Amino acid sequence: MDQQSFVALLNEDLESEYRSIVQYTQHTATIKGAEYQSIIEELKAHLHQELEHATTLAAQISFLGGVPSVSVPRIPNVPNGADALRLDLDLEAAQLERYRQRVSQAMELGLHDVAEALRPLLQQTQDHVMDLQGALGR
Ligand SMILES: [Fe+2]
Ligand SMILES: [Fe+2]
Repeated sequence: MDQQSFVALLNEDLESEYRSIVQYTQHTATIKGAEYQSIIEELKAHLHQELEHATTLAAQISFLGGVPSVSVPRIPNVPNGADALRLDLDLEAAQLERYRQRVSQAMELGLHDVAEALRPLLQQTQDHVMDLQGALGR
């Protein structure tokens, strides 16, 4: 993999974080029910971390000579209950796999500083997966 392809993948990661921000903004406002109160509070915490993930990715893309994307992916409109949480879990699980690959690729490219910058995203995304798995009883 060359650096240009790596930057293109980072831009897809950035777009996926934009999706998280939009999706969690909807879901924290629309998921109702006493059984969801604690996960809603966790989703609100996720939302702030997703903005940090996006700004970290944008900074690394720019550092590597790329231009951070401003495209937000299309988001399925599933605002309620367990279906919404499953959509959130699927997104986080996909991001976790992407960040595992991205940290390895950064190391392979000799970009150890970039790998270090991405490690908090990897760890926090695993936490988000676990929060959603817990809420869905998995
Ligand atoms: Fe994120
Ligand atoms: Fe997340």
